[in-house]
Amino acid sequence: MPRLLPLILWLLSLGLHAQPSLIPWPRSVEWLDSRFRLEYVSLHADPGLEVVATPLLDFLSAISAKATANDELLHPLYLRRDPQLPKEGYVLDIAPTRAEVRVSDAAGVFNALATLRQMTTTAEGGSYWPCARIADHPAYAWRGTMLDVSRHFYPVDFLERYLDELARLKINIFHWHLTDDQGWRIEVKKYPRLTEVGAWRTEADGRRYGGFYTQEEVKRVVRYAAEHGITVVPEIEFPGHCRAALAAYPELGCRKDTLPVPTTWGVFQDVYCVGQEATWTFMQDVLDELVPLFPSAYFHIGGDEVPKDRWHACPVCQRRMHAEGLPDEHALQAWAVKRLQGMLKAKGKTLIGWDEILEGGVDSTAVIEVWRGDDQARKARANGNRMIRTIYFDASPASLTLERVEQFDPRVDGSDLQVLGAECPVWSEGRDPRNLGYSVFPRQFPYAERLWTGDAPRADIRERMRPHVARVESEGWITATQDADLFTASIRYEPARKDWLVTAQRGRPDITVAFAGSDTSGVFTDSLRVREAGTWSLTPLWQGKPVQDALTIPIVRHLGVEAAQTVSPLPNPKYGFDPAKGMSDGLLGSESFRDGQWQGWWGPDPVITLDLGQEQEITELSIRCLQDVAVWILLPREVIYETSTDGKHWSTLERATHDVPNDPGPRIIHAFSARPATPTKARYVRATLVNAGPMPASSLGAGNPSWVFADEFVVR
Ligand code: ACM
Ligand code: ZN
Repeated sequence: MPRLLPLILWLLSLGLHAQPSLIPWPRSVEWLDSRFRLEYVSLHADPGLEVVATPLLDFLSAISAKATANDELLHPLYLRRDPQLPKEGYVLDIAPTRAEVRVSDAAGVFNALATLRQMTTTAEGGSYWPCARIADHPAYAWRGTMLDVSRHFYPVDFLERYLDELARLKINIFHWHLTDDQGWRIEVKKYPRLTEVGAWRTEADGRRYGGFYTQEEVKRVVRYAAEHGITVVPEIEFPGHCRAALAAYPELGCRKDTLPVPTTWGVFQDVYCVGQEATWTFMQDVLDELVPLFPSAYFHIGGDEVPKDRWHACPVCQRRMHAEGLPDEHALQAWAVKRLQGMLKAKGKTLIGWDEILEGGVDSTAVIEVWRGDDQARKARANGNRMIRTIYFDASPASLTLERVEQFDPRVDGSDLQVLGAECPVWSEGRDPRNLGYSVFPRQFPYAERLWTGDAPRADIRERMRPHVARVESEGWITATQDADLFTASIRYEPARKDWLVTAQRGRPDITVAFAGSDTSGVFTDSLRVREAGTWSLTPLWQGKPVQDALTIPIVRHLGVEAAQTVSPLPNPKYGFDPAKGMSDGLLGSESFRDGQWQGWWGPDPVITLDLGQEQEITELSIRCLQDVAVWILLPREVIYETSTDGKHWSTLERATHDVPNDPGPRIIHAFSARPATPTKARYVRATLVNAGPMPASSLGAGNPSWVFADEFVVR
């Protein structure tokens, strides 16, 4: 029995003085055996610190109605400046009846506050801080995140809630990706069409989608961030990723043709015409209006993924190249970045660009945001540039597991030379306010600890994360805890049962799936059997609310669903082909070639044969094909339909063609249909999809073989 006593005492002490699960863990921490109660606290700030002390006082007042400033009768909390401390650093000295916070600068106050918030424990008797001595400062000055608000829009209220979460983790940079092809999201008064036209797009289903921030709203976000110790760094993309701007002002492009705000993702050939002065007047005007909204010393100009085709074909750009003595279009891009850098410098701002701005040479005072890996980082270092490393948080949890986030290391070849820090960008093609949390939580916890401490997260990070995950979930943020995608579904036809089996893959066990068919609806978790044809929708729900757009599954019952199929050659295996029923399972594809219903052949002419089992009267043969020029998918030139009664002798029923142009445009699904004037009898039907040939000169894939994609051979 006596031997158990120390163990019992130790267990008791754990219960009494459980250490706060701080993230990031401080550089130095010593827990003391007592508490500082927060009911009767009075803040005494050094002269000059009163303003920065406000968030601290607000926090204390929220916990305890009796918290005040400068009341001698209460327990004192001293806030003092200590110029000896490292930048952004702070020291906490918490004793039972007096506490002291020393800070190096204003940022130190926010960092101290972030730690004190996490140390605050509320028990029945009230709130307290465990007594402790903590000395802390960051390893990296640039502890950033980036949010793409172009592909999907995030309202101001939402951004404020997100900034709250960043501040809690001492993340101090919010890189706001404000413009891109699919939406221009910031008001520019001199160019109203940027937001009247450029902030809106018409989706494939006819929905109008978009939004933008007025300059007043931008100021509100910048102010809110500042009140939480966060600097907002704006990004205005130049000279590429600007289709939304060109939709508003076509004269800014080389071709000057009117193009819509695109609804698809990827890289577009139309970019600003940097050869003409009109573009430079526009950029000057935009910077004149926008730069004053952002106190940040840095201004991000994008500069990534700029196809050079338009400049190559543009006489104005070519004239500019010759006038400036530039050997090629890469040098023209470098010239344009340098010119923009000069415009920003005149406003006292340092230019940041994605690592493509290294191509063709860039001034060494620019900051490079490295997104394409270590080689680009080495290039930036060799060129003398400071840099920001990245870890893309929009990456699927299957490829970017939590373990890989924990291993993230912003250094280049083991060294921090010229490394300011990092960002964890979220590109929003697949994200929006309903599910951003799934990309950033819990990833942001180990990430923040890495940037703060400069070391890999402490071994107990997963354990410390738990209360933080519980808290963000209680505030409505969905989190990823299983390294699995948020929600996908697969569906297959089951010939033996003559129905379709829908199987859900849910990223969390507490996701449920709302389903709706033409005259039935409900909720399921793992699987659902469907007998009725029609369009079915599946919507994942969490905390009772949709967390992403519905998946729609169009199902058609036709004669081919009961047929035996032969496909030759087999399609590329990466799109999940079912050799038995893949082209005759009653399932149609969506606009995404990756949805499992589409099958693709790169080069050959696929032949699809169905054996209907017995002779049937046929009124229609139809195959839907996809065109998505951006990813090298073209409609077949024609589809040849043949019928047979014995499977040996064939007669041609019809050659179905189309008149859809194959220039880069929106994705199109086209049905190649044959409807004989009088019904034909046949047991076998066959379709040959004739490949369109090489990608056209107007496309990014020019000269390469094209793909044919088809989803279903429909027989009626
Ligand atoms: C980028 O991902 N295009 C910077
Ligand atoms: Zn041009």
